[in-house]
Amino acid sequence: MFETIQKLAPDPILGLTAAYEQDSNPRKIDLGAGVYKDESGVTPIFEAVKMAEDLWHQRENSKVYIAQAGYPECNSAMLAHMFGAEHPALKAGRLRSVLTPGGCGAVRLGAELINRARPGGTIWVSSPTWANHVPLLSNAGLKIREYPYYDGKSHAIDFEAMLAALEKVPAEDAVLLHGCCHNPTGADLSREQWDAVTETAVRRGFLPFIDVAYHGLGDGLDEDAYGPRHMAEKVNELVVAYSCSKNFGLYRERAGAVMVMGRDATAADAGLSHLVNIARGIYSMAPAHGAAIVKLILNDPALYQVWVNELNAMRERINRLRALLADTLARKNAPVDFSFIRQQRGLFSLLGLDKAQVQRLREEFSIYMVDSSRVNIAGISPKNVDYLADSIIAVL
Ligand code: LMR
Repeated sequence: MFETIQKLAPDPILGLTAAYEQDSNPRKIDLGAGVYKDESGVTPIFEAVKMAEDLWHQRENSKVYIAQAGYPECNSAMLAHMFGAEHPALKAGRLRSVLTPGGCGAVRLGAELINRARPGGTIWVSSPTWANHVPLLSNAGLKIREYPYYDGKSHAIDFEAMLAALEKVPAEDAVLLHGCCHNPTGADLSREQWDAVTETAVRRGFLPFIDVAYHGLGDGLDEDAYGPRHMAEKVNELVVAYSCSKNFGLYRERAGAVMVMGRDATAADAGLSHLVNIARGIYSMAPAHGAAIVKLILNDPALYQVWVNELNAMRERINRLRALLADTLARKNAPVDFSFIRQQRGLFSLLGLDKAQVQRLREEFSIYMVDSSRVNIAGISPKNVDYLADSIIAVL
């Protein structure tokens, strides 16, 4: 059976972690996979998660299957968390949620739902987008096209080109947007730009599909939710993929949700019925443990506060590290202006290096980043920033 298949190259992002771990250089730096790390390079478990797990350990009295869509109290809490409890679409009963194995599970189910409605349909993704969007969307059967997004020369969004491309997207297509903390560029739409994209979506009639993988890690929980909340007020239909990997630190637990907004409650129910049916045909039903933790945190005001404080501290640290790297490079007279790193948001920025420079950093300096020169800002620390800046300057 398997004589015909050949060994594949490692995953362009996840493969870096394995390579980094095998490197014996004591100065090595891992700026690869997008996971938060503290000063000592550890990805910590949130205190709020530990507290919720202790509670859950006492409360859980069975391992029998949960509802197909996952815990109802988790789905409702996540919808309120994403859109705001008073959101008109929520009040009108137009939103449904299905808990998924992480944000990837959510993107895949959302893509499968679009493919059910429009087999072999087209989804537009930003250029560039997260590398794994491509297999997640195309393996569901969708065709992928790109809209211009980031201009590598100015290190900013080319909004004019983006909007001009969206103006031509047919009504039957879907458009993938990043809710906040754009991966890999760190360049986010402003409120005015979200308003303009929303206006285009309404006029053109395409389906917005928003990937929210870093909620709270950009400017704050409400600030980062502006795009999805605004769109949900204006468009008829919407899909959101939500990840709890980064903002709850639940990476390996695979917690997330796919949310669908229909024209009315009947349409939303139809969407929900397909989502659970699609999941049933792939992995059967929603995973429980990570979702139980999220459910407890979102529904308990004291736990919620502990979590928010931790999330705020993480975000503030990421933004301090952004400033630290930009300042260090400037202080060392880097021949390139890296001040854009300070302005961008979330875990990622593109340094603007070419593949050969990225390779030199890996091979000569043991500094690991994605080939596109995407760096995980959380991998920087006051201890390694000088070595990092010197090494970047050395390959420029
Ligand atoms: C990343 O972009 O590095 C993260 O989202 C981890 C992953 O699964 O690729």
